[in-house]
Parts: sequence; C-alpha cells; structure tokens
Amino acid sequence: MLRNEITELLQIDYPIIQAPMAGGVTTPTLVAAVSNNGCLGMFGSGYLNAEQTREQIKEAKKLTSNHFGINLFVPTQFSQSIDEINQANLLLQPFREKLNIATGGTSNLPDYESASETFHEQIRVIIEERVPVCSFTFGIPSSEVIRELKQHNIIVIGTATTVDEAIEVEKCGMDMVVVQGCEAGGHRGNFLHDVKESQIGLMSLIPQVTDNVNIPVIAAGGIMDGRGLRASLCLGAKAVQMGTAFLTCQESGAHKLHKESIVHAGEDQAVLTRAFSGKWARGIKNIFITETQNHEAAFAQYPVQNTLTQNIRKAAAAQGNPEFMSLWSGQSPRLAKSQSVEELISRIVAELLKK
Ligand SMILES: Cc1cc2nc3c(=O)[nH]c(=O)nc-3n(C[C@H](O)[C@H](O)[C@H](O)COP(=O)(O)O)c2cc1C
Repeated sequence: MLRNEITELLQIDYPIIQAPMAGGVTTPTLVAAVSNNGCLGMFGSGYLNAEQTREQIKEAKKLTSNHFGINLFVPTQFSQSIDEINQANLLLQPFREKLNIATGGTSNLPDYESASETFHEQIRVIIEERVPVCSFTFGIPSSEVIRELKQHNIIVIGTATTVDEAIEVEKCGMDMVVVQGCEAGGHRGNFLHDVKESQIGLMSLIPQVTDNVNIPVIAAGGIMDGRGLRASLCLGAKAVQMGTAFLTCQESGAHKLHKESIVHAGEDQAVLTRAFSGKWARGIKNIFITETQNHEAAFAQYPVQNTLTQNIRKAAAAQGNPEFMSLWSGQSPRLAKSQSVEELISRIVAELLKK
C-alpha cells in the first residue's frame, strides 16, 4: 500500500508530498524535515527570484541528502488599466488607514515580461542545481521548458482542477498530475475554465481523472491524516499532496497567527476570496475577507492585486493583526495540529497501516 510508481520515481518511502506553499511557509527547515522523514518536501518558489531560489536549494541541501522539489507559477499574460488600479486602491484605502500605512500608488506594479524572465531564470537554477522534481501551477509551461527539464532527468508535475486540465497536463508530456479538489487551501490552480466551473470536490475528481489519464495522479485538498490518504489511494490516486497539515507544523515558516487561526477554525470558515491577490484562493475568513466580499469583481487582476495588497498583509503581520493577513487554509482545519513533521508523518503512516 505504501510503495508504488510515484514513491519509486520520487525516491520516497511514503506516498506523501508536502505541498509547495509560496509566501514564506516552505522554508528549507520544513522541506528538509519532510524529506528526512521519508516524504517529498517541496519549495513554493513562485514569489522568489532566481537568486533566492538558489539560496533555498543550497540551504536545503545542507539539511538533507534526500530528494526535494521546487514549484513555480506559470506566468500568464495580464493587462490592467490605470482606472482599474485606482478603483482597487480606493477600495483598499480603508484597510491602509486602519493599519496606518501609506496610500497605494500605481508604481512598482508587476509586468508579464519580467515575470516571464524570472521564471526562465528559475528554470535554469533548477537545472544547474539538479533539483530532481519540478512542479507547476496556474497553467502549463512551454514545451521547450518541459523538454529541457526532462532532458535533465527532472520529474515534471502539473496541476489540474478538472479532467480536461489533467488531460492537457498529460498531453504536454508531464510525468504526473496533482489534482486539486475545491477543498484545497491557497490559490486555485485552474487554467482552462472559469473558477466557478473548476470547483470539483476531490472525491469526484480523483476517479474521473484516473479514468481519463495514464500518468500517476496525486490528490490534493483537505487531506490531513491517514483516513484522507487511504481514501485517496482507494479512489485511484498514487500519492497525496498536503498543504494545511504541514503549514501548522512546528518547522513551517508560516506566521504564528496564521497557524493559530487554522488550529482554532471550523470547516465553514475556510472560504474563497480574490481580494488578496486577484486570483481565487481559500483562506480563513477574517475582517478583510468579510468587508471585501461585495467588491470581489472590482479588484485588479492577479498578480497586480497581489502587489497592491502587499503592504496591507505585511503591516498586519508585523502588527500582529490576523484580520488583514491572508490566512490560506484548506477545508479541514479542525484536523490541523501543532506538531512536528515527524509526528505528523509517523501518525499518518501508522493510521494507513492499521487494519
Ligand atoms: C499557504 C498555502 C500556499 C500555497 N501555495 C502554493 C504554491 O505556491 N504552489 C502550488 O502549487 N500550490 C500551492 N498551494 C496549494 C497546495 O499545493 C495544495 O493544493 C493545497 O494545500 C491542498 O489543500 P490542503 O491545504 O487542504 O492540504 C498552497 C496552499 C496553501 C495552504
């Protein structure tokens, strides 16, 4: 039950992948602890530049000799008018006033060309540093990128939220697919259809994807323990990717208040919002989410909105105020615990082996 083609390919003991979590959660300490305990640690490097990506890899290599991986955001074209940015800034102004921070401007906004350049530099770093696994979300990278990674024997993993997306991932030559159910914490990885059509529960998604693709399937969304792992394997997945469960571990780099909010939340508090980044994502409901929910459509596109809210999220974290932080979480926060990575993994494995 524990060994299969995924554990073989990824060279891990257990079919468990720690979800990449961009934004400071997946530190070298967390990634290495996961890899040292027989699972695959993954860096969420979507918000980093090439130099920072290399530093994290080098740091992790000092802490583990086992396999770990890197996850990147596939850059997508976006446009934004000054009027739309001004409108978003106007809606964000009351939060800036509450936190006593500067008014948002229209400078330092992201552009597609530099995001794309950074992405390609990161790919180069992954190849140069011989990182054995590279996964993607928010779309599919070019065939050149996939081919180059595979030529260097790097295992390439895509993310899908529907059967069509999983078929697309397979068609593009990727080795495995993470199927992200609507229960999942953090950003939705949908890229073919609107987010509303891509909210499929994991129990529906796994068997329908496994019936339609030949590459191994990794299940993600709301899995926190041996029951979730066992159910995913029963439905046809070959491994699971768990985010929230690792986020609240002692080794994770998540803010203390983020961890506490999850541990004290109920399943009905993990809601979807696009007010933080311009892309739909699931997190624990707070004042920022509640007060912006009637204006979701008026906010800027990803990644512009993400840049506009950056000083709000930073100031809130520095001031110890969780009401204005992005508290990403999946739909199973009641199962989250403050524990070590070793405790989490050994508990899951024991639960899986229990008759
Ligand atoms: C804080 C946080 C950050 C995340 N960042 C990323 C990311 O950078 N790349 C990615 O592919 N998925 C990211 N995800 C989504 C996870 O890969 C995965 O789909 C999700 O955690 C599964 O749901 P769970 O949190 O209930 O386990 C993130 C999730 C969380 C909770």
